[in-house]
Amino acid sequence: MKDYPLIDYTEKYNSIMVFDKNRDVFVHRWYPFVEGYSKEFIEEIIQELPYPPKCAMEPFCGSGTTPVELQNHNIKCYSFEVSPFMHLLAKVKLEQTYDESTFKYYRNKIANSLLNPLQDIRTKESIPFGHTVVYKTGMRKWNFHDTSLDGILDIRHAIRMEIDDEKYKKLFTIALASIILQSSNMFRNGKCLSYKKKWETRIYSRTDIHKLFFTKLDCVIAEDIKIISSKPTLVNNMNICYLGDVRKNIEKVPDNSLDLIITSPPYLNSRDYTDIYMLELKVLELVNSYEALRSLRKSTLRSHVQIKYSELKPINNSRLEKCLSDMRSSKTKSWNTGILNMICGYFEDMETLFSAFKKKMRVGGVIYLNVANSAYFGVEVPVDYIIGDIAEKYGFCVREIRKARDIKASPQQSKMIGKLRESVLVIDKR
Ligand SMILES: C[S@@+](CC[C@H](N)C(=O)[O-])C[C@H]1O[C@@H](n2cnc3c(N)ncnc32)[C@H](O)[C@@H]1O
Repeated sequence: MKDYPLIDYTEKYNSIMVFDKNRDVFVHRWYPFVEGYSKEFIEEIIQELPYPPKCAMEPFCGSGTTPVELQNHNIKCYSFEVSPFMHLLAKVKLEQTYDESTFKYYRNKIANSLLNPLQDIRTKESIPFGHTVVYKTGMRKWNFHDTSLDGILDIRHAIRMEIDDEKYKKLFTIALASIILQSSNMFRNGKCLSYKKKWETRIYSRTDIHKLFFTKLDCVIAEDIKIISSKPTLVNNMNICYLGDVRKNIEKVPDNSLDLIITSPPYLNSRDYTDIYMLELKVLELVNSYEALRSLRKSTLRSHVQIKYSELKPINNSRLEKCLSDMRSSKTKSWNTGILNMICGYFEDMETLFSAFKKKMRVGGVIYLNVANSAYFGVEVPVDYIIGDIAEKYGFCVREIRKARDIKASPQQSKMIGKLRESVLVIDKR
């Protein structure tokens, strides 16, 4: 087993590997994403490169931190995102041709139409699919109180009816997306959505929901639109931000074209992004049936257990084989095929990616890959080292693994394992 230099970068990276740093930052503040890194991470990378990169790629675009920041530095960046919600969010943030007066014009049109909301809004706008969206007799829990959902439907209807320019329709839809969770009875609780404390009695009126929407537009988005309107850009990464599974779509990138990849793939932590962003996907009508949801989940990287696969064989890697064998003999809990399959599928997907990266990157290119280790059945999976091995198998050279910070393992695992390393692999194409 090859050893790679493990360098302590916690002082530098500890605070910048989290999206929260973007909370008040130009454009990134339009939607409070959780699973991303900050723009400072991208800036640090640009500063340490010996030459300015010409062409980059982000295979797991998420909220668009990488392509947006590279665009701000006039660096071309291909990106891919499987979730129609994140993809919409990234495209809206990458759009550079908004102008202040058109923005105000549509904002006021919507405000006028919301002065007299329709009493029968549900005959004009369909309720999101699913059993638990609003209260029905006999239910114990539901996602939205009726007035909240009606307030949201009012806004969705106004966007549909009052805005005839697709670009602004999408922009206002993201403003709506940014208040959906707050308007609901749920909160994001790590891997899933849970019910807020005292949700039964916290009830917003329809007008409260409209106010939340206008506060977001007037206090956050309007200010940034003013800056965008006056700022010319040389590079446009919006038209090369693709919707779909990167494993299937990476062919859109020309061979030998990339000199930089910056990314953070889903971690091997059973987190399903379709679950966490379910309310946005449903309310914005981006996923309209259980069948469509299943098909979306099938296109995601195999980092969760929502889709069952027939038994998979592990890739040829001694570190991985040792983990799997330790898990099988673990006394903590009888091992579970779903989890072992997920682990095997995850590294198989990593191999698929590195085989494609090899074709797409030119010699001298560099990859910065942010990932964290995982633990199951009392066994730690050194995800960073295994990805390092995969990179080397495909002809790359792992320059170093930078320890970024320690993150909490799940409550069951933390007693046995303690903290898990989050790291950034720096990998050179030779
Ligand atoms: C950790 S997040 C990336 C966050 C991003 N760096 C940011 O700052 O916003 C991983 C993303 O990968 C996406 N994803 C999962 N499977 C994918 C696939 N097969 N192809 C493309 N994107 C995928 C998820 O939907 C999620 O948005």
